[in-house]
Amino acid sequence: MITKIKGTQDILPAESRRWQDLEDVIFQVSRLYGFREIRTPIFEASELFHRSVGDTSDIVKKETYDFADRGDRMVTLRPEGTASVVRSVIENKLYAEPSLPLKMYYVGPMFRYERPQKGRQRQFHQFGAEAMGSYSPQVDAEMIAYATTLLAALRLPKVRVKINSLGDTPSKALYRDQLMAYLQPRIDGLCEDCRARFLDNPLRVLDCKVDKESPILAEAPKPLDFLTPEAKAHFEAVLGHLRGMGLEVQIDKSLVRGLDYYTHTVFELEADLPTLGAQATIGGGGRYNDLVETLGGPSFPAVGFAFGMERLLLALESLGEAEKPEPIHAFLIALGEGARTKASELLLRLRHGGLICDTDFMDRPLKGQFKQAERLGARFCLILGDDELAKGVINVKDTETGVQETVEWAQLYPYLVQKIREHAHHCGGECADCSEDC
Ligand code: HAM
Repeated sequence: MITKIKGTQDILPAESRRWQDLEDVIFQVSRLYGFREIRTPIFEASELFHRSVGDTSDIVKKETYDFADRGDRMVTLRPEGTASVVRSVIENKLYAEPSLPLKMYYVGPMFRYERPQKGRQRQFHQFGAEAMGSYSPQVDAEMIAYATTLLAALRLPKVRVKINSLGDTPSKALYRDQLMAYLQPRIDGLCEDCRARFLDNPLRVLDCKVDKESPILAEAPKPLDFLTPEAKAHFEAVLGHLRGMGLEVQIDKSLVRGLDYYTHTVFELEADLPTLGAQATIGGGGRYNDLVETLGGPSFPAVGFAFGMERLLLALESLGEAEKPEPIHAFLIALGEGARTKASELLLRLRHGGLICDTDFMDRPLKGQFKQAERLGARFCLILGDDELAKGVINVKDTETGVQETVEWAQLYPYLVQKIREHAHHCGGECADCSEDC
């Protein structure tokens, strides 16, 4: 048996409805905020990620799926979406559009060669969004609001928003020097990974999972203490906008994030829900004012975030909403060959009218067909035997009330629509909408 690759997952028919529901909420919330979808390729030139996510980041050093294609070009399965969006904005000159900021979102698979565990796969999915072209701190706050609106729409409680600022390029350079000077005499007290990070990306030492309780890190200088006046003003304005919206955030002075392109605001969303296991971080993002220029575009500031969709779905499991199959409107039970042929025609008409219908394709006996109708959650069973075939009628059984009526073929569609409407309005057919003719 050929099995799936480690760290990948099949989304089976019984689960796909949850994904589609999540995607629906994502699309709706994105529309509320004025974001439109962008779809970029899932593989890109490897250089794109080296120059954006960063050569010294764990993602590029240890986790990318890189390969030479048959033309000997080095390509990489995207580990995240931001770099591709930026590449596309530059390549398609979207930065020159009159309607700024550009507001784009994406949903799709990402690839990271990580140690798989609950909530962490090698192929996973992100919903991400990027707002590009504005320096305004209001946009940083708007992005956090967008992320929290999604969580509210999903009814996900207990989500913490942690926020920090890394400052602009001068703030980051100043901080890096201070941090290196502090760590230099203490570096032997930290883990092996930190000793390596100290040399090529000292900021990431703050994010170490192994040394997170170490007093060396607790007492280390923090980026917030080295912000230039402009960077400080930006961060305070972001916090002011968040306060204005009544959004609660926690300042986490050690938050640095795992990608190299951030400047100014960085944030993460954490949920304390048992179904998430050890992966409490359901999303993260921040501002990246220099990335467009780094990748060969003009000076074009941006801010964005991404959620892990598997983690959102795991978090939703904590709400205890069990998956229910979508009920269908009608199941047609045809008895005999002639009835089957007529059944196909009737079903076609009902489906063209927008009713969700099914029938038996397994030669089940009558009882088995009723059972199948029940499995599919059919509201109506439509029974067509030789007698009905001869008279041009069909028996319609309402599975909720148990009432059975005989209906002419030509009346079947309006009859079902009327019953479904009455049910939706809880009016017994009395309200104006239901009593008017279809
Ligand atoms: P990130 O923090 O690397 O940010 O990933 C965002 C989210 O993707 C994480 O919070 C997590 O929920 C999910 N995620 C990451 N790796 C895995 C994995 N191996 N398995 C399951 N879920 C995972 C970014 O990717 C940035 N591009 C976000 C951003 C957009 N910043 C600015 N714009």
